[in-house]
Amino acid sequence: MNNIRTVKGGGNLQGKITVPGDKSISHRALIIGSIAQGETLIEGFLHSEDPLSTADCLRKLGVNIPQIRENEPFKIPGLGLEGFKEPTEILNCGNSGTTMRLLMGLLAGQEGKNFVLTGDKSLNERPMGRVRKPLSLMGGELFGRENGNKAPISISGRKLKGCVIGTPVASAQVKSAILLAGLKASGTTSVIEPASSRDHTERMLEAFGADINVRGELGRNIVINSGKPLLAQKILIPGDISSAAFWMIAASIVPNSEILVKNIGLNKTRTGILNVMDKMGCDYKIVEQSIIAGEPIGSINVKTSKNLRPFTIEGDILPKLIDEIPILTVAACFCQGVSEIKDAQELRVKETDRLKVMARQLRKFGAKILEKEDGLIITGDSKFCSAEVDSETDHRVSMSLAIASLLAKGSSKIFRASASSVSYPTFWDDLEKLTN
Ligand code: S3P
Repeated sequence: MNNIRTVKGGGNLQGKITVPGDKSISHRALIIGSIAQGETLIEGFLHSEDPLSTADCLRKLGVNIPQIRENEPFKIPGLGLEGFKEPTEILNCGNSGTTMRLLMGLLAGQEGKNFVLTGDKSLNERPMGRVRKPLSLMGGELFGRENGNKAPISISGRKLKGCVIGTPVASAQVKSAILLAGLKASGTTSVIEPASSRDHTERMLEAFGADINVRGELGRNIVINSGKPLLAQKILIPGDISSAAFWMIAASIVPNSEILVKNIGLNKTRTGILNVMDKMGCDYKIVEQSIIAGEPIGSINVKTSKNLRPFTIEGDILPKLIDEIPILTVAACFCQGVSEIKDAQELRVKETDRLKVMARQLRKFGAKILEKEDGLIITGDSKFCSAEVDSETDHRVSMSLAIASLLAKGSSKIFRASASSVSYPTFWDDLEKLTN
């Protein structure tokens, strides 16, 4: 794997691209397919490190997931809710927070069975107490380093009871862990989130026949009743808008560019980036819209815009663009004026502290960025010079720095560039394809 990439500035980007499958939906397809009755067919799966970590853990739990090949549909023979075996090995979640947090919810209610979850260096420093605490309220027995907040995590499966749980953070991983635990808890489990986070778990559970209802202001209250079996489905996974985001922003800010990004998931809980692009005055059009397997999809054509306006991101929109903050920080460097990202403390507990890392790396190109406790203030109209930058092992940082390099005068080097494989293994090939 090539771990240092050189990117030449000064060119433009042209062409059509199909980004790989949605990461969040890929994890959920594997997990929910594994506990359904019958064979679930999965198409459009993201063949990258994070979802493959989920597949690996599920295999250790006894699910007969075949070898997954890029661009090939596959079937999962579901085991039902009671079918997992106690694994003889530690479940390794790699770099994937979604794997660890969703599995905590899935396994907490597996009565009489014991599990140990671990991850890489980054994942084992990320907060797990946000999942452990609500699961403990349901009767779960989960332990970990630092008072149960950090992995390795051990789980002693227990009979869980349904509860009403208000989550302090708007996190789809926390919400999904509670809902998966709710499938095996007695009675009703109700989650109330402070702002709406991505709702792929709710949509997929409903499609599989779970007794689940979304209600409350802006659908922030999700209620699930246990007892209904999940029935295998066919799942068609759209392209990941969080991967498309790199091309959408690149086409907007790199002079003389135009990119058509095909078949992107346009679920309303994920499209915050389009609101920001509207504020910036980006030139884009959504074409070929449709609904596939309950998820809206479309293609987006983006052309370069001159005189982009600065923007502020704050409040309830954060969960709808949480993974796009690194590339939006790059975008802000090329807007005419001062942009601000607020209420973004969550970025500090992602794969890296993305506020600190993006500020540190982009300054090497000459960006003017002020780091605040909860966000960034970015002064636009930058003239980037070439630089040697480092992903610091974070996939989205690696790809954001690649796009930033296109705007720099001369050639830039990106160290630990292969971090991108966590969510977008073909990113560097696609960049080469689109560059003129
Ligand atoms: C995800 C939820 C988000 C997001 C992550 C994927 C998911 O994390 O950042 O990349 O699939 O549920 P949080 O739940 O921590 O906000």
